Amino acid sequence: MSEERPGKIIIVEDEPFQARFLTLTLKKAGFEIIDVFDNGKANLDYLKNNPHDAELILMDIMLKGALDGIETAEAVKTNHDIQVIFLSGLTDDDVIDRANVSTPHTFLFKPVDPRQLVTSVLMGVRSHRLSKDLRESRTWFSRTLDNIQSAIITTDRVGNIIFRNKKALEYFPDFGLPQNMVEELLVSNREGQKINYREVIKLKGSLNLESVILQLPDRNIPVDILLASITRNERILGYVIDIIDISEKKAQQDAIQKYQIQLQEFSDNLRNIQERERIKIAREIHDELGQYLARLKIDISRLKLDIEDNTRLNDLESIADTLVKRVRKVSSDLRPKILDDGTILEALDWLSKEFSQSLPVSFFCTEEVLHLPQELKTDIFRIAQESLSNILKHARATLATIELSLDDNTIELVIRDNGIGVKKNNGQKKKKTMGVMGMKERARRWKGQLNIVSSDNGTTVTASFPFQETDN
Ligand SMILES: Nc1ncnc2c1ncn2[C@@H]1O[C@H](COP(=O)(O)OP(=O)(O)OP(=O)(O)O)[C@@H](O)[C@H]1O
Ligand SMILES: [Mg+2]
Repeated sequence: MSEERPGKIIIVEDEPFQARFLTLTLKKAGFEIIDVFDNGKANLDYLKNNPHDAELILMDIMLKGALDGIETAEAVKTNHDIQVIFLSGLTDDDVIDRANVSTPHTFLFKPVDPRQLVTSVLMGVRSHRLSKDLRESRTWFSRTLDNIQSAIITTDRVGNIIFRNKKALEYFPDFGLPQNMVEELLVSNREGQKINYREVIKLKGSLNLESVILQLPDRNIPVDILLASITRNERILGYVIDIIDISEKKAQQDAIQKYQIQLQEFSDNLRNIQERERIKIAREIHDELGQYLARLKIDISRLKLDIEDNTRLNDLESIADTLVKRVRKVSSDLRPKILDDGTILEALDWLSKEFSQSLPVSFFCTEEVLHLPQELKTDIFRIAQESLSNILKHARATLATIELSLDDNTIELVIRDNGIGVKKNNGQKKKKTMGVMGMKERARRWKGQLNIVSSDNGTTVTASFPFQETDN
């Protein structure tokens, strides 16, 4: 008893001598005697007003008054959580049987041996405290589980339900409860596809089923199910099933996905509009401005025939020539004609030659990829163009290559340089750039990918597009 709290005892005994003996012996052993009553009613009245005081009652069976010890103990058991030890002067089996009707009790026979008394009371108090702790932790456990959002069910090893929290009760009210929870859940939610869950759990300890449909009597809900075994010394004692309603998460994911699709469509549309505008402006510049400039040049040539001193006209003529070249360049920068009239090979070849004025660019093609949809051709061309612009702007390279190949129904465009590589922007504020993002977008719209690999020896941009070549 040294480090434990003293047990709180009530004695119900109508023989004063016996009551005194019990009190002194137990007090000496360190117990706290709350009170001594000589009849059952007084004891019950006390408990009514002080329900949490006593842990154990030493109860004489043969009591004076309306209630004997057994009746008093029954009343105590109905309303209170208190251990009872009977004291009996008789060895009559009938009395013992009567006392044991609902709960087995401990008996001490008079004359009581003091050591036996102390030991029995000590054991009684301990067992009372243990079962109280157990009941309390069960209450804690179930209250906690009742307050969490997922449905928790525990079963024995063959699947019979042992515990359900509030949510689980809501999902499976008694009338709809599957006999074998585990089996029912897994089989009914995998569209007949049977999972040997016992084997999976044996191997991994748990099984996680994501995004399955839980069929409830009144509705279906998307859930994640976690199934884990409860084991002791490597023996499976049962299972715990954790069912989490993911309707909200799924709705959010669906909304995000929808939003992403809309954004992608919007960006694809913008790109198409931008390209159409470029075509229109490039043509207008080329055709209309070009025509006017051509007429201007013809008029200057005619004037030169009529006027003797041509010096100023020659100047005008060379300005007109420069203008024609500039107009062609602006038009071509906006939308090179070859992109509309030529194949992708011709367009990339033209592009490499254009850039070769600033940096040697070689173009290789391992396969004749001729018939591409116009928009795919434009996207491949624009990716190559942006990559080459980046090389000129950032790489300090002395060489660049463009390769185009078609393999296993995949078009691959690779642009390499031997420059300094992409540098980390050591903590500086990130510049808002569009080039790489635009290239990635162009690859994505064809369900392709764009990867950039860079080192101190240069950078490689690889864009791949799934593609099925057709005859038209
Ligand atoms: N070939 C390359 N070699 C070295 N660095 C590169 C190369 N390509 C891209 N980079 C780096 O990657 C960054 C992002 O490129 P991105 O094309 O997105 O932007 P930008 O060229 O700076 O601007 P813009 O939006 O006009 O294209 C560049 O700022 C540059 O630092
Ligand atoms: Mg760029």
